[in-house]
Amino acid sequence: MSYLESRGLDKKTVEKFGIGYSYKSWDGLLHHFTEEEIFTPEEVEKSGLIIKKEDSKNSYYDRFRGRLMFPIFNEYDKIVGFGGRKLYEDDLGGKYINSPESKVYSKSRILYGLNFAKEKIRYYDYVILVEGYMDVIALYKNEIENVAASSGTALTEEQTRLLSRYTKNVYLLFDSDMAGIKAAKRGIELLLESGFDISIISLPFGEDPDSYIKNNGKKEFDKRIQEKMSFINFIAEYYRKENKLESVEEKTIFIKEMIGYISKIPDRIKRSLFIKEISSEYKLNESILTDELNKILRSGKNNSFPKSSLSLPEKKTDESSKSFYGNNNFESELLELFIHGNEEALAFLENNLHTEYIKDRKILSITEKILDEIINHGSLDISAVINELKEDGEKEILSRISNNKYEASYLEKSGSDNLLSQSASPVYTIKNAEDLVKKFRIRELEIKRNEIRSDPGKMLEVFEITKEINELMKN
Ligand code: GTP
Ligand code: MN
Repeated sequence: MSYLESRGLDKKTVEKFGIGYSYKSWDGLLHHFTEEEIFTPEEVEKSGLIIKKEDSKNSYYDRFRGRLMFPIFNEYDKIVGFGGRKLYEDDLGGKYINSPESKVYSKSRILYGLNFAKEKIRYYDYVILVEGYMDVIALYKNEIENVAASSGTALTEEQTRLLSRYTKNVYLLFDSDMAGIKAAKRGIELLLESGFDISIISLPFGEDPDSYIKNNGKKEFDKRIQEKMSFINFIAEYYRKENKLESVEEKTIFIKEMIGYISKIPDRIKRSLFIKEISSEYKLNESILTDELNKILRSGKNNSFPKSSLSLPEKKTDESSKSFYGNNNFESELLELFIHGNEEALAFLENNLHTEYIKDRKILSITEKILDEIINHGSLDISAVINELKEDGEKEILSRISNNKYEASYLEKSGSDNLLSQSASPVYTIKNAEDLVKKFRIRELEIKRNEIRSDPGKMLEVFEITKEINELMKN
């Protein structure tokens, strides 16, 4: 109760969303069901609420222990699963644990909160799409009720189909961190394809909808909604913030990415209106843009569209980057870490690895799939990822590394000071993850330094970067 209070949740809201608590015990729920003969353990196991112990036949334990429980409703108000938020420091599980997929619960087909929101979505003719359970609840509490959450999964086609029954207008309101921006970009692509009109509501860096409305109040929040942006301006702003809209080359990459998005829009008239918008905003000849668009449309769906990776590794993934910075061998250590890292190491990677650090196109693509898997399932099933990989060679890379389980040789061949030499155990820890992310960051800085080194006006910046590199190397 004190946690709920600290999150500003009143009784009415708690009841509305059915928020509860799971006992901090291994068999509290199990006993409840069996002692009162409500269900047999086999039955409860099917719901995913208890788990069979691996080594014994008829022994089970509770999945959710000492967690704040959020029932997950389908759009008809039926509870089909649960999300459980961590409350205790000594809980080593992820921040959220969800029910596993079951006959009634399929993550990709649920939008959290849709059951409460659907009438209001129809009425206002738009939906605010957020990422988290708490975001839905916080907005709802502030009488913004046309809101639903993808709950940390990348938006799926089934979810967009669900939404399209109620509206064709989506306001994306994702966390303003890298992960959120990334999720927004993926969402944009899919929503455009499905014919939605998209607006983006942005928040100051580091805030999520819940924290923002809590700190600033409903009025300020409504203002944010008023100030929503088109997806084009949103992505432009992102490029600008990253200082990636300065040179002609950078602008070209940006425009091409935009045209890539526009090519996803099924409606021709809308496409041409967006082309007009870009042409006037960036003072470009409309017919050139149209030509480019047609080129993409003609060449089929996938190949011309810049990979959905957030930033623009295009120009850096090529051979030229290799010649500068030796090889990219250490990038495959990342895959090793994903495969053999402990939970903490994985969580660290999930939160700290920016995919634009990765220059090898195949490793980038594999990593994105791995991150998707972690985010969608809360854990990593490598064989599932391997099955997902379709591009030439990717399957082979990941299977080779995952089979190399306890062989130090693979990394040693790469010659770099590798992860295994630091620890005889095949399980990688958070320390390994930190070191590797550091390696990536240092290389990123080196690349940047190299780009500006010959510019006399940027000497100070070169100096700052060098300082930063030295700092990183020291720790
Ligand atoms: P608070 O931190 O309590 O405010 O939660 P939040 O709802 O803001 O969650 P956050 O923005 O961190 O994450 C967004 C959503 O992603 C959550 O609501 C969950 O659905 C999901 N999510 C977050 N962390 C995990 C995790 O560790 N495992 C899984 N499976 N899902 C997660
Ligand atoms: Mn939050």
